Amino acid sequence: MSINYSERIPNNVNLAGDRTLQRALEHWQPRFLDWWQEMGPSDFAGHDVYLRTAVGVDVEGWASYGAVKMPDYRWGIFLADAIPDRRIGFGDMMGEPVWQQVPGEFRSQFRRLIVTQGDTEPASVEQQRLLGLTCPSLYDLRNLFQVNVEEGRHLWAMVYLLHAYFGRDGREEAEELLARHSGDEDKPRILGTFNEPIEDWLSFFCFTYFTDRDGKYQLKSLAESSFDPLARTCRFMLTEEAHHMFVGETGLSRVVRRTLELMKELGTDDPAAIRRAGGIDFPLLQRYLNFWFTSSLDLFGSEVSSNAATTFANGIKGRPDEALYEDHLCTESTLELAVPDDKGGVGTETVPMRNAMNEVARESYVKDCEMGLKRWNMIIKRAGHDLQLSLPSTRFGRNIGTWAGIPTDLQGNRMSAEDHAHKRPQWLPNEEDRAFVKSLMVRVTEPGKMAGWLAPPDRGINNMPVSYEYVRV
Ligand SMILES: [Fe+2]
Ligand SMILES: [Fe+2]
Repeated sequence: MSINYSERIPNNVNLAGDRTLQRALEHWQPRFLDWWQEMGPSDFAGHDVYLRTAVGVDVEGWASYGAVKMPDYRWGIFLADAIPDRRIGFGDMMGEPVWQQVPGEFRSQFRRLIVTQGDTEPASVEQQRLLGLTCPSLYDLRNLFQVNVEEGRHLWAMVYLLHAYFGRDGREEAEELLARHSGDEDKPRILGTFNEPIEDWLSFFCFTYFTDRDGKYQLKSLAESSFDPLARTCRFMLTEEAHHMFVGETGLSRVVRRTLELMKELGTDDPAAIRRAGGIDFPLLQRYLNFWFTSSLDLFGSEVSSNAATTFANGIKGRPDEALYEDHLCTESTLELAVPDDKGGVGTETVPMRNAMNEVARESYVKDCEMGLKRWNMIIKRAGHDLQLSLPSTRFGRNIGTWAGIPTDLQGNRMSAEDHAHKRPQWLPNEEDRAFVKSLMVRVTEPGKMAGWLAPPDRGINNMPVSYEYVRV
């Protein structure tokens, strides 16, 4: 069967004008579709879903809505518009023209970055594969699928770069992106967090709030890259990514609102009473926030990294929002880090700024995460409660970097391993929490109806009413 690519794959990279690339993608597309059928959302392949499809990068093109069956989704390839005479914005080659091809000496570093980014996209689809079966509403089901098809498109974005700029190596890597699977014993996904199954919707909202936001910061760093096609690809991906974090932020807001409603009805904030009424109590929510925030922090890598210094120096990967900084060379500056001292406390260490780039990105990420917390706490305060949700210290519960495996409390104060093991069930989701959340997960598919643990959203998608039949079940 021959495929009309200009029709099947919307793109602004002139696919029709490059026969070799077109043939390579022709070869890859059926494998992608097989992967989608096998590892993508279960059970809903035949249903019409009200989805946004990008058919261009301009205001009109990037968000066109309509009913689509997911396997027929038009996964496209888009680069944000080129910036004329764009120059390298940081590092040792600052001010030189950006690259339209990958320089030979940086080829393997770029390949690794693109593969690592590309690997997370299908991984998250795999992690969320069964969530549709327990959707709290059709509105939420549609949002899940929107996130899933867009992660599929992000995989296309990375596969395009591999095929177009990395020759045979790139084609092999593109095959591997479909061969590794989330949680697979023999061939797992590259990063730890992406091998954890996401079995309930509270985890899904936390994942889209915290882990997709890590994605946002990785994309922001890559959007600064001197390799212009990568920068342009990531700039466009960021427009889509915003919706994923919207799903997380509003999802968690709706959990908060529903719990407050129940507290008012019941006249108590007793967790047991709230659970009996089918709501998610705030201590439990706090433990989920602690877990997902902490595991997402690890995705930024070690606080001190010679690899981070090299990628910055070489113009491969910048800081998120590089333009906001005054100094783009960072040869003289330093950063002060909190490190464990040998007296069982917290000391400081001064490191060259270039070596601390992972930490710089992580700090921006933490500030961004705090925005949602402020909003949720405002909702709680307006409802007349003192209680506040918070983020744990970046030293708490880490598995990567300076604080890996060092027991601390939520404020980052060090403590004995024994004491820590004892308190852990109060800080991170325990078995009882998980079993309770699981018990709340029942499928609601009547248009406009919501599961009992979740308040309805303020508005629907693309000006449609909340009660619209977003998925025809
Ligand atoms: Fe993505
Ligand atoms: Fe995402």
